[in-house]
Amino acid sequence: MTKSFGALMAVHDVSFELGDIGITGMVGPNGSGKSTLFHIITGFYRLDRGEIFFDRHSIANRPPYQISRLGVIRSFQHTRPLPFMSVRDNLIAAAPRQCGESIWPLFFSPTRVRRQERALREKADGVLELLKLAPLADELAGRLSYGQQKLMELGRILMADPRLILLDEPTAGINPTLIRQLVEVLRRLCEQGIQIFLIEHNMPLVAQLCRHVLVMDSGALIFSGTPENARRDPRVVEAYLGRESHAA
Ligand SMILES: Nc1ncnc2c1ncn2[C@@H]1O[C@H](COP(=O)(O)OP(=O)(O)O)[C@@H](O)[C@H]1O
Ligand SMILES: [Mg+2]
Repeated sequence: MTKSFGALMAVHDVSFELGDIGITGMVGPNGSGKSTLFHIITGFYRLDRGEIFFDRHSIANRPPYQISRLGVIRSFQHTRPLPFMSVRDNLIAAAPRQCGESIWPLFFSPTRVRRQERALREKADGVLELLKLAPLADELAGRLSYGQQKLMELGRILMADPRLILLDEPTAGINPTLIRQLVEVLRRLCEQGIQIFLIEHNMPLVAQLCRHVLVMDSGALIFSGTPENARRDPRVVEAYLGRESHAA
């Protein structure tokens, strides 16, 4: 994958494969192209050149709705809930293809619409249970803490039956208790066969969660492997850890 903005090569000849296994982490200094990669994979930015395959489908430069329909669903670095709706309704609104959205099913088959509404409500409550947000189901989303809103956003993703979830800095700005809660949820999703690809600044967390780590630097992929090997890799140490410690 290659993508530039004018003269800036934001992503340069980056190539990797996400195995079937668990959680992949992507790390790298600010501005190294991580979020851009997520935008490309999910169809929000066009590739200059390259190819992307998901489940043998070529998804490069397809519109975001087509990509999410295949089950590739992302979070954004900054969350945007519907603040004046309840937490439960935020989840229900995130479920794709609802027949109540068009007037005709309501007219011809109100029972089917009601049945679907009940099913969605049950699904939302199940997801809230998993996220340990069930006690907040009727709370207005705008009243949640920042960390709780991020968990809710993961809930909105889960309503769309994802097969691969991309999370852009999911733990940024949330407290340690909620981070632990999130880690537990990610592990359980992983056990259910959902693949997770996350951008994360918190290195100890990456080491704890991920068997596979990608390291970006200045638009290039400089490492792909285990967290232990990443820590020992001279390029990684120089590019990432070295510079961070200089900054510190
Ligand atoms: N829409 C855009 N227009 C112009 N430059 C962009 C745009 N998006 C990202 N960039 C630039 O691309 C580089 C990579 O950004 P980004 O992918 O957000 O990095 P990261 O997520 O690793 O911090 C940065 O230099 C950033 O300023
Ligand atoms: Mg970013």
